[in-house]
Amino acid sequence: MTDNGNGNGNDNLDIGPGTRTLVTGGRGFVGSHLVDDLVARGATVTVLDVTAPDGTLPAGVGYRPVDLRDPASVRAALVPADVVFHLAGNASGTISVDHPRFDFETNAEGTFNLFEALLDTGVRRVVYLSSAMVYGRPQTHPIAETHPLNPFLPYAASKLSGEHVAASMVESYGLPAVVGRAFTIYGPREDPRRAGGEVSQYLRWHLNGLPIPVVGDPDAKTRDFSHVGDLVAGLVRMAERGAVGECYNLGSGTETSMRELVTLIGDVTGTPARMECDLSTLEDSYRHVADVSRLRALGHRPRVPLAEGIAALAALLGARPELPAVPTVFQRDTPAGASAAA
Ligand SMILES: NC(=O)c1ccc[n+]([C@@H]2O[C@H](COP(=O)([O-])OP(=O)(O)OC[C@H]3O[C@@H](n4cnc5c(N)ncnc54)[C@H](O)[C@@H]3O)[C@@H](O)[C@H]2O)c1
Repeated sequence: MTDNGNGNGNDNLDIGPGTRTLVTGGRGFVGSHLVDDLVARGATVTVLDVTAPDGTLPAGVGYRPVDLRDPASVRAALVPADVVFHLAGNASGTISVDHPRFDFETNAEGTFNLFEALLDTGVRRVVYLSSAMVYGRPQTHPIAETHPLNPFLPYAASKLSGEHVAASMVESYGLPAVVGRAFTIYGPREDPRRAGGEVSQYLRWHLNGLPIPVVGDPDAKTRDFSHVGDLVAGLVRMAERGAVGECYNLGSGTETSMRELVTLIGDVTGTPARMECDLSTLEDSYRHVADVSRLRALGHRPRVPLAEGIAALAALLGARPELPAVPTVFQRDTPAGASAAA
């Protein structure tokens, strides 16, 4: 354990050969990229997930089946680890509106079950991936970590509950936890049947030669898009240098309106993109951009410009990819639209 000189008693970690890491949700979109990154660093990686591997786990990566909702299953699945990345859970706002109990049991109780089981295991760092949805509708721009927390979706409430569990276990038991609040993530491997991020959804419509359905006001609605590779680098940075008990915005710090995104998709693919706006649903037509000063202070810098990330994703998806199947739902009985809050 080395002192990092920031006076908060945290030890610096460098994830590399010999570091034992555990990734909950390692079979998912973000988790699979994190696993690849950790393997590339030479770390030992074990995935804990309710979804069994389908042959896509990198060689040498361990897998332990777990349902986080069941404390006994969590205890049985744990293996000794230096760093635990907790990513598993329901990532869909739409699913949380349709199934709020499932969402709460998975995200809030599941997080409690995991963190309780980690107490006294000797783990050196626990990174919990929360969501910028915990801020609710922004009152200031860019959104700093000190912004009031006003969840309006069950998903945001369950993610915030996980944050409170983390904070209380830091205070009461010394769990070495740090929290990341991700803004909108995009990149390869997003499941169109589950994910609601605008970049891949819009691209999928466009690559099928269809107009892009934009839910809300295309100018008033802005988002902060992070390539999954940058997000993963931020998570690793938080694990290595983040202060225990602190939370960090995980975003690019760049604001992009839906109209700008549609135009960019057209520019990058060489085919002008058309959009069809549904102005009947304005619940999420707000500006959403991260103040990333805290993460920057740890030395993190996003590397993938949005145009570059879209171009790479478009090339990967090819012509006529599977269409998105996740509607935007903010309330029960709200007519279906195009994308879910994540
Ligand atoms: N994708 C985004 O834009 C975004 C934005 C903000 C925060 N996040 C957070 O990032 C994390 C990962 O999101 P993702 O997009 O990779 O989601 P994902 O749905 O692709 O992956 C989630 C993984 O968790 C696993 N899982 C679900 N329930 C489980 C349970 N009960 N026990 C064990 N494993 C379970 C799933 O099998 C899956 O592999 C989530 O916690 C989400 O809240 C994602």
